[in-house]
Amino acid sequence: MENTIAFLRERVTRAPHAILILGSGLGGLADEIQDAVRIPYSEIPGFPVTAVAGHAGALVAGRLGPVEVVAMQGRFHLYEGWEPTEVAGPVRALAALGAEVLLVTNAAGGIRPGMQPGDLMLISDHLNLMGRNPLAGTEVIGSARFVDMTEPYDAEFRRVAEQVAAEQGIPLSEGVYAAMLGPSYETPAEIRMLGRLGADAVGMSTVPEVLVARAMGLRLLGISCITNLAAGLGGGTLAHEEVLEVGIRVRDQLAALIRGVLPRIATANRPAEAAS
Ligand code: HPA
Repeated sequence: MENTIAFLRERVTRAPHAILILGSGLGGLADEIQDAVRIPYSEIPGFPVTAVAGHAGALVAGRLGPVEVVAMQGRFHLYEGWEPTEVAGPVRALAALGAEVLLVTNAAGGIRPGMQPGDLMLISDHLNLMGRNPLAGTEVIGSARFVDMTEPYDAEFRRVAEQVAAEQGIPLSEGVYAAMLGPSYETPAEIRMLGRLGADAVGMSTVPEVLVARAMGLRLLGISCITNLAAGLGGGTLAHEEVLEVGIRVRDQLAALIRGVLPRIATANRPAEAAS
């Protein structure tokens, strides 16, 4: 981790305020980053290397509008066999560079009745059903041990996102994200179970990064792109290609939402500076 942080400090010269994690089919927003420094994961010491279709695998540091960001174009998944600490390692490293905000997106299957492919859902809370936690293991200096998870997804950031969505006419609901290990999609019985447990959507990512972000004191916003109806709800079978296609279809809306939200949550996060 020390090597990773030292390498990134040299390459990312301006401290990022926000980390953006762009999920399946959603990486295009990183192309809008100005004065961009693009660092392929393969060049970063200590970073795993991704190979899933639709995940480009690079950090892109620079400005998105007025906000210094580092975007993760492509992320690591537990189902690829990485350890939870590896999956969440980039967030730990970027938080060490000074990031205070995590904006995380993902692709998810819709469980709540009425959800449609292409819907965007603010994550209000999650169910960690991955059976793993990146905070388990040797205690990390500077990172909380027994992390409070009462409000992992910042309520003020969610209100800002709802305002921006309303102003721009982007439909946005709110719900609970259930994280499964994957890589197989769920069975219809599992989806019925998840619905009874209170899940509105299901996916295979995000929770490891969120846990580390909270342990490091970052405030965060999570947005799921509903790419399909969860198993047994849509009549058909599920395919990764469908997930990518829908991600591409809604990415403009998601990009507009993120563009609108970022400057406002950046100031929300710095009340003292904003006042002076
Ligand atoms: N299940 C799990 N992960 C997913 C899904 C799903 O239906 N869609 C996109 N990611």
